[in-house]
Amino acid sequence: MNQFKIKSLVNRAYQEGELNKDEITALLKADIKELDYLLQKADQKREEICAEEVHLRAIIEFSSYCKQNCHYCGLRKDNQQLERYQLEKGEIIKTAQMASELGYQTVVLQSGEDEYPAAEIAEIIKEIKKTTGMAITLSLGEKDFAFYKLWREAGADRYLLKHEVADRVLYEKYHPGMSFANRIESLKYLKTIGYQIGSGVIIDLPGQTPEILAEDLLLSQDLELDMIGSGPFIPHQQTPLKDSQRGTVEMTLKFTALSRLLLPLAHIPATTALGTIDAEGRQKALRAGANVVMPNVTDSRYREKYQIYPEKICVNEEAGDCRQCIGGIIASLGRQVSQNKGHSLR
Ligand code: SAM
Ligand code: SF4
Ligand code: FES
Repeated sequence: MNQFKIKSLVNRAYQEGELNKDEITALLKADIKELDYLLQKADQKREEICAEEVHLRAIIEFSSYCKQNCHYCGLRKDNQQLERYQLEKGEIIKTAQMASELGYQTVVLQSGEDEYPAAEIAEIIKEIKKTTGMAITLSLGEKDFAFYKLWREAGADRYLLKHEVADRVLYEKYHPGMSFANRIESLKYLKTIGYQIGSGVIIDLPGQTPEILAEDLLLSQDLELDMIGSGPFIPHQQTPLKDSQRGTVEMTLKFTALSRLLLPLAHIPATTALGTIDAEGRQKALRAGANVVMPNVTDSRYREKYQIYPEKICVNEEAGDCRQCIGGIIASLGRQVSQNKGHSLR
């Protein structure tokens, strides 16, 4: 595509927040070397909407048990080489309180699709709210709708459930026994009961085309996401996709930049997966539209056992180390850590 065409598409995305599927696809297909203007306008839009503030979300990976078998993920049920763990209620609450003391304003409770008792999760939410006042995001996979409601009533603010890939056939191929329709219904239901919803994709899953990624962006607009994330696919040896090619930094950055232009009010994370395949990955995303980072606060004894993909960064660090590291990264970009909870901008 020539520069004239790129500029005219990017300008329209910047001004109107809309492009059609063919136009988005064309930008996703263009070489990143031709797309400086896209990244620059996404950064400009980020600055207009979020100023220089970066929101931090502290992740607690509290259980690695999972009943699902997603083809890409190291936590899948059939990976019998993984030693599983589950944190007790008191440990989760203490970790959240420590995160609050480190200055975090949001905690993300994440796990595989574990059978952790729903009532206990509700108690954890209430206790974290009561003792820290932090915003609480849940990232527990697909659950009974009654549980979503119970946790919302207990005080959870946000739910993070990536739709992963906006193509029903590919989705159901990589998620045996799961349905794309239920995924989308879950997201819609979560929104109706008052959660701020986050979703997003894995970039460069085998078989995923730029056309499908364009659908991902259009679907994300339809769902009116409060948060949209994209992390590159990283093959894990104990999964069916072990011999597939890993995702690229380039496609992740193009998707991040288009996310900012097409969903200007969304919170957009610079993902850990991107930081894993490129030491400067998170910095690059923060300069291409992202305004959120999600540092790990899980006790270092467990980090290695939450092996979604290999060589995940921060496995040997403690929560305080990551907080300092991220603070340094943000300052080096001339940005500041936000002092508020970073609720939805919608
Ligand atoms: N079980 C919950 C779920 O699936 O929503 C939350 C935990 S799951 C490990 C969080 C995210 O990890 C998924 O949404 C998926 O996009 C990402 N993930 C899993 N395996 C990955 C891989 N090999 N490469 C990149 N991202 C991966
Ligand atoms: Fe389980 Fe989530 Fe991994 Fe799928 S992506 S196997 S649901 S932890
Ligand atoms: Fe964990 Fe940099 S964020 S060491």
